[in-house]
Formats: sequence, structure tokens, C-alpha cells
Amino acid sequence: MESNLLHESIDRILVSETHLQETVFRLAEQINRDYGNEPILLAIILKGSLVFASDLMRHLTMPVTLDFMQVSSYGTGTASSGFINIKKDLSVDIEGMNVLIIEDIIDSGNTLNKLKKLLQERNPKSVRICTILDKPERRVTDVEVEYSGICIPDEFVVGYGLDYQELFRNLPYIGVLKRSVYEGE
Ligand code: IMP
Ligand code: MG
Repeated sequence: MESNLLHESIDRILVSETHLQETVFRLAEQINRDYGNEPILLAIILKGSLVFASDLMRHLTMPVTLDFMQVSSYGTGTASSGFINIKKDLSVDIEGMNVLIIEDIIDSGNTLNKLKKLLQERNPKSVRICTILDKPERRVTDVEVEYSGICIPDEFVVGYGLDYQELFRNLPYIGVLKRSVYEGE
């Protein structure tokens, strides 16, 4: 087989392509059942959720519109510190809309907790969260996640949109990086 630098950086595959696609389909079925024919706005959180969102939306059957947001949380030291930094806000007014936040992974929960509250203040009809991955062991801040895909252990993962230093987003599966990739940091 030809050598492939991208795949060679991966120690092991944690979630296969098939498992990801089955999970996306299961989440879409749940969402279709819950919303029926109600229109929804997918609030896609850049950049990591791009791949998941593009797979998920093709299984949704209600009228769907898309918008994007880029956020980061900082001051993560304690629960009391921490603000949400909006690098890019939604471009539409969400008042009266069903907003479904699309996230790649819930880790500490800090970002999503604050983001959900922030969007709720804009008087939408509803705000829910859909994530493909969840690391429950890492949770610091409680956040209600209505649609959760796959629980994974406390390991740093890449692929299917998730990055290490902006790389590896294009892997079709979720993998754990080889130790050698971090070396020299
Ligand atoms: P938190 O839930 O506020 O801690 O932040 C979650 C964000 O951290 C996600 O949207 C990811 O961008 C990033 N993140 C957390 N865990 C991982 C991981 O294992 N690999 C890549 N990015 C991660
Ligand atoms: Mg990242």
C-alpha cells in the first residue's frame, strides 16, 4: 500500500466511517421525528462542525436553513471565569425560530452552555443542541444536549472536522494522534 502521511499520523481509529454515518442517520431520524414539518435553522459552529453538518442536513426532511457562528471560550480556569468570544455571529435574526446548534464535540461544556444562553436571550422559539461526539468525563459545566451521537473517552481526537493545529479535519474517521505528532512542542 502507498504511504500516506495523513493516515500514518494516526495511532488508532476510535470511531469508523461506518459508525459515524450510522450515528448521523440515527440523529437525523430523531430530529425528523421531533420537529415534524417545523422549519429549523441549523446554527453550524465553525470550523469543526462543518463535516457533520453537511452529512446531517442531507437526512433532514423539514424546511432547513443554515447559518454559521464561530466562537471560543476563554478564561477556562474556574467555573466563574470564562466568557464567550464571538469571532463570527449569526447573520440572521433568530426571533421566533427553531434553532438547532450543530457542534462537533462537547468537552468541558463551557462553550455550549454560554452559547445556548446567549441565543436564548434573542427570543427564538426554541434552542437545542446536536453534537456528534461527547466526552462526558471532561464536563465542568452542565449543559443540556438534546441530540448526542457517540460518547468517547477522555482522549484528544481528530478527523471528521476536528483538528489538531488546524490539520486532520479531512480524515473520514475519528482517530487518536500518534504521540510523535505532538513531540517537539
Ligand atoms: P468545550 O466544551 O467548551 O470545552 O469546547 C469544545 C471545543 O473544544 C470543541 O468545539 C472543539 O473545537 C475543541 N475540542 C475539544 N476536545 C477536542 C478533541 O479531542 N479534539 C479536537 N478538538 C477538541
Ligand atoms: Mg479546534
